[in-house]
Amino acid sequence: MDFVLWASRVMHILSAAVWAGGLIFMNAVLHPVFRHQGAMPSPSSVALQRRFFPFLWSSLWTMLATGVFMAVLNPRFLGLSVSTLWTQLLAAKVFLFLLILFTSWQAARVVRRIEDSLGDAEAAHAWEHTLETLIRRSIALGILTVLCAGGMAVA
Ligand code: HEM
Repeated sequence: MDFVLWASRVMHILSAAVWAGGLIFMNAVLHPVFRHQGAMPSPSSVALQRRFFPFLWSSLWTMLATGVFMAVLNPRFLGLSVSTLWTQLLAAKVFLFLLILFTSWQAARVVRRIEDSLGDAEAAHAWEHTLETLIRRSIALGILTVLCAGGMAVA
């Protein structure tokens, strides 16, 4: 069982790194380069976004499965009771994760809106701006979640 728990922790941290790293790369590297080259919004930027967000969901589901697995096997897990700092931080993580899921769902819908409005530059730019706001919001939620994880490790 120790190996399974160890592998779960590795998969959990790895999927968190892939998720957060992907979002930061998108907003801090890819979008600025595309915009500088006048290729955003464009069919290629939309093709990339349409590939990226489903890929992101695979890391979110991996985080959920490995996180729940690690939680229920942890002796500090008390079911629905949040009477200890560890359980309070875990509950905060689950709440933040639900917000991350909702924000990712919104982002996937906005990518479709960008694709539908490629013929209207003003509308497409407005949707691109909304997408970047949602990505920034996801990154902030991710940082808060990792802060909770850090607290759980020392609680
Ligand atoms: C419902 C969703 C989640 C659940 C149930 C969950 C649960 C857990 C549990 C039980 C641990 C082990 C804590 C311990 O050993 O005391 C953990 C560790 C961790 N979690 Fe999550 N997690 C979730 C989502 C996330 C998300 C969204 C992120 C990042 C964006 C994240 C990042 C981490 C990190 C970095 C650790 C490792 C901390 C360490 O090893 O010290 N988790 N998580």
